[in-house]
Amino acid sequence: MAISNNPRKILVTSALPYANGSIHLGHLVEYIQTDIWVRFQKMQGHTVHYVCADDTHGTPIMLRAEKEGITPEALIANVHKEHAADFADFLVQFDNYYSTNAPENKELSQGIYKKLKAAGKIATKTIEQFYDPVKNMFLPDRFIKGECPKCHAKDQYGDSCEVCGATYNPTELINAYSAVSGAAPVRKETEHYFFKLSECEQFLKDWTRSGTLQGEAANKMGEWFENGLNDWDISRDAPYFGFEIPDAPGKYFYVWLDAPIGYMASFKKLCQDKGLDFDEYWNKDSSAELYHFIGKDILYFHALFWPATLEFSEHRKPTQIFAHGFLTVNGEKMSKSRGTFITARSYLEHIKNPEYLRYYYAAKLNSTMEDIDLNLEDFVARVNSDLVGKYINIASRTAGFINKRFAGKLNPSANNSVVAEIRASAQLLAECYAEREYGKALREIMRLADVANGFVAEKAPWVMAKQEGQDAALQQVCSDALEMFRLLTLYLKPVLPKLAIEIEQFLNIAPLTWAAVDASLAADHTINAYEHLITRVELKQIEAMTEANKENMQVTAAPQLHSEQRHAAHQQNAAANAEAKEAEYISIDDFTKVDLRIAKIVNAEHVEGAEKLLKLTLDIGEDKPRQVFAGIKSAYDPATLTGRLTVMVANLAPRKMKFGMSEGMVLAASDARGGPFILSPDVGAQPGMRVK
Ligand code: 2FM
Ligand code: ZN
Repeated sequence: MAISNNPRKILVTSALPYANGSIHLGHLVEYIQTDIWVRFQKMQGHTVHYVCADDTHGTPIMLRAEKEGITPEALIANVHKEHAADFADFLVQFDNYYSTNAPENKELSQGIYKKLKAAGKIATKTIEQFYDPVKNMFLPDRFIKGECPKCHAKDQYGDSCEVCGATYNPTELINAYSAVSGAAPVRKETEHYFFKLSECEQFLKDWTRSGTLQGEAANKMGEWFENGLNDWDISRDAPYFGFEIPDAPGKYFYVWLDAPIGYMASFKKLCQDKGLDFDEYWNKDSSAELYHFIGKDILYFHALFWPATLEFSEHRKPTQIFAHGFLTVNGEKMSKSRGTFITARSYLEHIKNPEYLRYYYAAKLNSTMEDIDLNLEDFVARVNSDLVGKYINIASRTAGFINKRFAGKLNPSANNSVVAEIRASAQLLAECYAEREYGKALREIMRLADVANGFVAEKAPWVMAKQEGQDAALQQVCSDALEMFRLLTLYLKPVLPKLAIEIEQFLNIAPLTWAAVDASLAADHTINAYEHLITRVELKQIEAMTEANKENMQVTAAPQLHSEQRHAAHQQNAAANAEAKEAEYISIDDFTKVDLRIAKIVNAEHVEGAEKLLKLTLDIGEDKPRQVFAGIKSAYDPATLTGRLTVMVANLAPRKMKFGMSEGMVLAASDARGGPFILSPDVGAQPGMRVK
C-alpha cells in the first residue's frame, strides 16, 4: 500500500467480542494489532475513526443471564463495563465502544433486512428443528447433546464431536438430549428466513478478485465457491435475545445478522456525538475507506455474508479485510490447566505494564493469517533486552548529564550521521506499519537503537564528563543521543503510546506526529528532569500469573458455547480439526495412571484472600487426611460440604499454591450453563475406594 500524503477518511473496526465472557490474551492480539494501525494512521494526519462494540445477542447470552437470575440487559451492561475497562487499560483507544443491543443497530438491521427483501434476496422455508418440550424453545445445535453417530462417544455437541472431530447434523445424534433441560428434544417444524447467498456467487467472486482479501483468504474463498454457497438462515424463533424481524412476529434476527451491522451502529452513534456524516462512509459510492480486522475463524462471515449483505442493501463494501491468526502460548493452545488461559485483567494484575504485551505482540505480528506465539520466557527476555536494554538505555545514559551539567539545555550538532541514518528509515517504517508488518518495523527500530547505543558507547559521555574542557562535546553528544531517542520514540509511538507521552513530557515537546520526523530538537531547547521510565519485567511475575490462572483448573471446562455461532466457519475447518483430535486420545495405560479415589470431605473452609478457592480436608482411607484447594467457592457454602463423599485424583503431584500445598484434585463439572458441581459417588461407596 502506498503511503499517501493526502488526508484519507478511514473507518476501522475490530471484531465485536461476545458479551458473555472476559477479554483474554487471545482477544488482545486483534485489538492491539488494530489499535497500532489506527494510531499509526492518525499520526500520519489521516481522519480515522476506530469503532467496536459488544456482541450481545443470541441464545448463550440469554441463557447465561437466566442462570445468573438477571435480565440479559443487566448482564450485557455489566460485561460492557468490564470490557471497556480492559480495553482502556491496554491502551486500545476506540473512538466509540458500543453495544449491538442499541437503537441505532435495531433501526439499521431492520432497514437492511427490508432492502434485502425488496431486492428479492430473502426467502422463507419451513425447516425441521429440535425443540425442547420442557423449556419450550428451539435448540441451537450447540445446546443439543448426545452420542456421536460416528465414534459413539457420549455427551457430544449437536454440530461436531469433540472426540473424533466428525461434523454432522443434530438429527444424526444418538439419544439426543437438551443441554438446557435434559429433556429428549422433539422434532418440530418452523418457518425460517433465509438470505439467498446462493444467488450472490457471481458478485462475491468479482469482489474477491478486487484485492480486498489477503492471498490466503482469497484461496479459502476459492474452496468455498467450489463447495457451492448455501442460503443463509438468518432467523431464530422466540424466545431469543435479539431484534424482531419486521412483519414476522416471534421471529428474530440471528445474532450474526446484526453483529456486523453493529460496526455501522457504533459508527452511527459516533456520528451523532461528533457531528460526522454517516452516509459519507457507508453510501454505495463512498470514497472513504473501510477496514475490518478479524480473526481467521470468522472470515466466512466477513468475506461472504457481510459483503453480500452490504451489496444488496445498497451500501459500500469493505476496502479490505485483514484476518490474523490465533494466539498460542508457549507453543500450545491456551490452556486452563497450564495456567496460560490468561485474562486481560489477570495480566494487568501481575505484569502491570500493558505496553510490554503490546510490544511483544507487535514484534510477532505480520500481515498473514499465521498463528502467533507468546512464549512467556521469551517475552521477559525480549521486553527487558529491547525496551530497557536498548531503547530506554539511550536516554538513561545521556539525559542526566544534560540535566545536571547544562541545566537541561540542549546543543545538538548540525549534522550527526547516526541521526541522519535513523531519520532515513522513516519511509520504510511507515510502509511496514501501513502493511501490518509490525515485526519487520520493530526489527528495524531495534537495529537503529543498536546503532544509537553504539554511538553513545563510542563517545562514552561518562568519560568525557570527567575530563577537563570536554563540556561542549559532552553536551553535543548527549543532545544528539536524545535526538536519536526522540526519533525512536516517534517510530515506537503506535505501539507504546503511553510511554511516548511520558517521553514527550520529559523532552518537553509537542505530541509527536509522523511529520515530526523532519523536525529536530533545537539548540537551546530545554528538557525536563529525566525520571525512571520503565522497569524490567521479572520471570517471577510470569510464574505468579500462570500460577494464579491455574486456580481454575480444579474445574473441568466445556468448550465455549458461543462457538455454535461460528458453525459455518467451523464446518470449513472440520477436516483439520479431526486430524488434531486424533493426537488428543489417551491410551488405557494413560488412564490407569490416574489414581481416582472416593474421598470424604471431613472439613471445608474459606481461604483468606482467595477469590475462588475452598480448602478441603479429605479422608481417603490413608493415615493422614489430604489437604486440597478446590476452585468451587462460587458454588458451595463450606458448611454444606462437610461429611459429603466425592471423587479426587489422589496421585496428582502435590502443588505449592499461594495459600499452601494442594495434595490432589477434586473432580467437578462446569460450563457456561453453570457449576462447578462436584461429583458424588452412589450410595455404598466408602472413602479410599478406587474409581476405575
Ligand atoms: O466471533 C466472535 O467473537 C463474534 N462475536 C465476532 C463478531 S464480529 C462482527 F461481525 F460483529
Ligand atoms: Zn465422534
